[in-house]
Amino acid sequence: MKPINVGLLGIGTVGGGVWTVLKRNEEEISRRAGRSIRISHVADRNLDHARNVTGGGARITDDAYAVVADPDIDIVVELIGGYTVARDLVLKAIENGKHVVTANKALLAVHGNEIFAAAQKKGVMVAFEAAVAGGIPIIKALREGLSANRIQWLAGIINGTTNFILSEMRDKGLAFADVLKEAQRLGYAEADPTFDIEGVDAAHKATIMSAIAFGIPMQFDKAYIEGISKLDATDIKYAEQLGYRIKLLGIAKHKKNGIELRVHPTLIPTKRLIANVEGAMNAVLVWGDAVGATLYYGKGAGAEPTASAVIADLVDVTRLHTADPKNRVPHLAFQPDRLSDLPILPMAEVETAYYLRLTAADKPGVLADITRILADLSISIDAMLQKEPAEGESQTDVVILTHVALEKDVDAAIVRIEALASITGKVTRIRMEELNG
Ligand code: HSE
Repeated sequence: MKPINVGLLGIGTVGGGVWTVLKRNEEEISRRAGRSIRISHVADRNLDHARNVTGGGARITDDAYAVVADPDIDIVVELIGGYTVARDLVLKAIENGKHVVTANKALLAVHGNEIFAAAQKKGVMVAFEAAVAGGIPIIKALREGLSANRIQWLAGIINGTTNFILSEMRDKGLAFADVLKEAQRLGYAEADPTFDIEGVDAAHKATIMSAIAFGIPMQFDKAYIEGISKLDATDIKYAEQLGYRIKLLGIAKHKKNGIELRVHPTLIPTKRLIANVEGAMNAVLVWGDAVGATLYYGKGAGAEPTASAVIADLVDVTRLHTADPKNRVPHLAFQPDRLSDLPILPMAEVETAYYLRLTAADKPGVLADITRILADLSISIDAMLQKEPAEGESQTDVVILTHVALEKDVDAAIVRIEALASITGKVTRIRMEELNG
C-alpha cells in the first residue's frame, strides 16, 4: 500500500524527535499502522536547520500555508505552538480535508470547541495525545481504556518545570526565586517561565483532560489557576513535618452540582505514590467508579517522549483513515451531540481540605479565638502545629490542617482571622487533597 503522507509544521525539538523516531522505528511502525508513514513536506522558519535534520528526505519550505494546501498531504502535524497562526493553520488544514495531529495544549484548551466542530463537519480527525503529559498515553487511557467507568476525578502533576522547582525547593530548602534561576540555567525553565510557574500550562492540560473525562466542552476560561511563584519554602518544610508534600496539581472532579476544574499548589500525603513523583517527571492519577485508582507516570516533555505521543496519533489516524467518520473514536471521548452541560463550579463552591499558616502572638486565648472562628463557619480542625517562639520573639507560627470545607467559608474565616489583633500579616492558605477515593 502507498505510504500515508505527513506534512510537518515545525521541525524544532519535538519535530526533530518525530523525524528521528519515525526513521529509526520505520519498520516497527509500519507493521503496526498497516502502511508506511512518511513525512514528505516540512515547514520551518529555519530552512538550513530543516535541511540538516531531514538530509534531503522531504520537501522543505518556510511557508506553512504551502504544506496545509499541499494536495499530496494526508495528515498535518502542527508543532508551531501558540494560539493565533496555529489556529489558522489547523482550521485551514481541516478545511482542506486533512487530518491534524497537534501537541498544542493552549490551542485546544482555548479554541478546541471550534476546531473539533470544524473537524466533525469535515469528517477528519484531530488527534492530540502529545498535548497532555508528553509521552504518557493519558488521552488514550481516558478516552478509550477507561470508557466503562464514570470517571469521578483526576489529579495530575502535569508540568515538569514546576515539579522540578518544587522538588529542588524541598530537597535543598531553597527559596523559589533561587531555584527558578537555577532551573533556567539548566534549561528546565524557559527564559519567560510565566506559563509554567503561574499554572497556565497545567490549566490548559487539566482543561483538556476534564473535557475527555466527563464529556464536557473545553472551558479553560472557567478554570481556577494559581501557580507556585508565591510558595514559601517554610510551608514545604511544615508540610513535610505533617506528612505531606506540596505539588502543583491539575485537578478535575465530577460533583453532583458541577465540575471542579482547578490548578494550585496542593498538599498531598507523602505515602501516596504520586507524592513521590520528583524532578521534571509527570504523573496523572485517575479515579473511575469501576476500576478505582489508576496512575500514569512518565516524561511530560522532551524530543523523543513527545514524539512518541505524536507518532502514536499518526498510527491511529493511519489505521482509521478510511473508516466511516461515524465509527471513529469521538474527539472528546463522548459523542459530540451527547456532551454534558454540567457547569464548572466557581472556586467559592469548591470543597477541599486546607493548610492554614498564621503568625500569632504567643499569649492566652489566641488559639481559642481562631478555633471559635473556624467552628462558627463549620470548619473542622484535623491537626494543628504550633512552634515555640524563637529566642527573644513573642510571635510564633501556627499551622492548622482542616477537614474538607467549603472554599467560601474558608475565605470568610481567613478575613476574620486576619482581623484579630493577635495575628500579624496574612494567613497562608494551601489546599490539601487526600487522593484516596
Ligand atoms: N512546559 C511544559 C512542562 C512542557 O514544563 O511540563 C510542555 O508542556
